[in-house]
Amino acid sequence: MTDIFTRLKQDHDRHRAMLDRVADTSGDSKERREAFEELRIDVSAHANAEEQSLYAEMLARPDLQDKGRHSVAEHEEADEYFEELVDMEFSSSGWLTRFKTLKDRLEHHMDEEENEIFAAAKQDLSDKRAEELGKIFDERKPVEKQDVA
Ligand SMILES: [Fe+2]
Ligand SMILES: [Fe+2]
Repeated sequence: MTDIFTRLKQDHDRHRAMLDRVADTSGDSKERREAFEELRIDVSAHANAEEQSLYAEMLARPDLQDKGRHSVAEHEEADEYFEELVDMEFSSSGWLTRFKTLKDRLEHHMDEEENEIFAAAKQDLSDKRAEELGKIFDERKPVEKQDVA
């Protein structure tokens, strides 16, 4: 059984590779549209399922609430970047510049989750609870993927 922290890190590593892949595309190409759409759907579904598992738990615990709120605010920021990029001209140089800002912000978010937020949550949550939250995440993510597609 995979605990929530191991499970989330697996997604993060995939997302880091997907961000690099989109950054390597150019112009309004099939490659760019497909790689970007795959990233958008997976990152959005990950964030939603993360909020319904780990962050729901953190927001309910006074000691972890502030860190939970901080991450949820960063998810909202990423949503705004995604919405903006969907509407921009894919062939414009501005698109890649904007995408690189999103890439930096998401890389920061994942590093912070792994190095600070998960570390703090691990101290407070039992191994059993961490496994239960992993299960909730795995149940929610496919549903959320359908929703954001
Ligand atoms: Fe997150
Ligand atoms: Fe995450």
